[in-house]
Amino acid sequence: MTTYARITGTGGYLPEKVLTNHDLERMVDTSHDWIVERTGIHERHIAAEGETTCDLAEHAARRALEAAGRKPSEVDLIVVATTTPDRVFPSTACLVQQRLDIHGCPAFDVQAVCTGFIYALGIADKFIRTGSARCALVIGAETLSRIVDWTDRSTCVLFGDGAGAVVLEASETPGILSSHLHCDGKYESLLTVPVGVSSGLEKLRSGEATIRMKGNEVFKVAVNTLGRIVDETLAANGLQREDVDWLVPHQANIRIINATARKLDLPPERVVITVDRHGNTSAASVPLALDVAVRDGRIRRGETLLMEAFGGGFTWGSVLAVF
Ligand code: ACO
Repeated sequence: MTTYARITGTGGYLPEKVLTNHDLERMVDTSHDWIVERTGIHERHIAAEGETTCDLAEHAARRALEAAGRKPSEVDLIVVATTTPDRVFPSTACLVQQRLDIHGCPAFDVQAVCTGFIYALGIADKFIRTGSARCALVIGAETLSRIVDWTDRSTCVLFGDGAGAVVLEASETPGILSSHLHCDGKYESLLTVPVGVSSGLEKLRSGEATIRMKGNEVFKVAVNTLGRIVDETLAANGLQREDVDWLVPHQANIRIINATARKLDLPPERVVITVDRHGNTSAASVPLALDVAVRDGRIRRGETLLMEAFGGGFTWGSVLAVF
């Protein structure tokens, strides 16, 4: 009998503070209309001073566990996708484990920038299919606002903070059907925070470690690559475009999302969009979008979801799942 990994609960958390486009107009030379026309973003949430990625992740995780009807003690794997961990080490997954009073199960972070949650879901799926875990907590959590250059109008209007989580359980009923993970490091310079622990530590200390992006070039590769991942995912499952009920995309830019929706021939009402209110929350964006559409009753049990993302690396990937 085949063991599937099935999403049994979702959760999301956004920090209280909302930063609108009009707020940004007072910070850099931009306008609400420019931001909406080029990105679809109206507002984003920003973590409070002292509020960390682990804090956001814990909220989202508790909500996902509650939705799944599971206690923390039943979790036997924790994977956190993040680019903005609380510490160099231990991993944010270890910190989340401690918060939830879970002891002994494997817990680790995955770093694939905006594709992080898709990577984490693909990894957790393999743990469950091979019998190495039965109840996984998979989280995407970010405080991107900490690595944004708030004087650079070409990037600071794009990003926001948040966390999303799913509980993934072993099941005989189909859940995740396939995952497709990719990377091409030749694009590393187009989207990067070009310092780290082993290079440019002084800049990290002085707060100069910020996102650098050649937005236009990223845009073109993202549209083409996400079009290809749609074809790859459908072909791997012997499915047609009409077999997909929902597109749950990474929320970077409404124009990139619309291009992927056109590729799938999906009407706008079958595409989950949160970029208008969340901005780009990197690894948190797909699980946050999923949680919104599950909680408002749009996504129902038995429907087929295509989740996809593209981000720094470049990394990209998709997960096809029956909800
Ligand atoms: N307000 C007003 N004008 C602006 C702003 C702003 N906030 N930002 C840039 N501009 C100006 C530019 O200076 C430029 O002016 P110029 O023509 O006088 O030189 C003009 O607007 C056009 O700039 P472009 O960069 O060509 O604008 P574009 O239409 O490409 O939109 C954007 C920029 C929104 C960044 C887009 O390129 C994009 O979404 N790129 C992809 C981002 C993405 O998907 N990232 C991947 C995930 S993120 C991750 O992995 C962390």
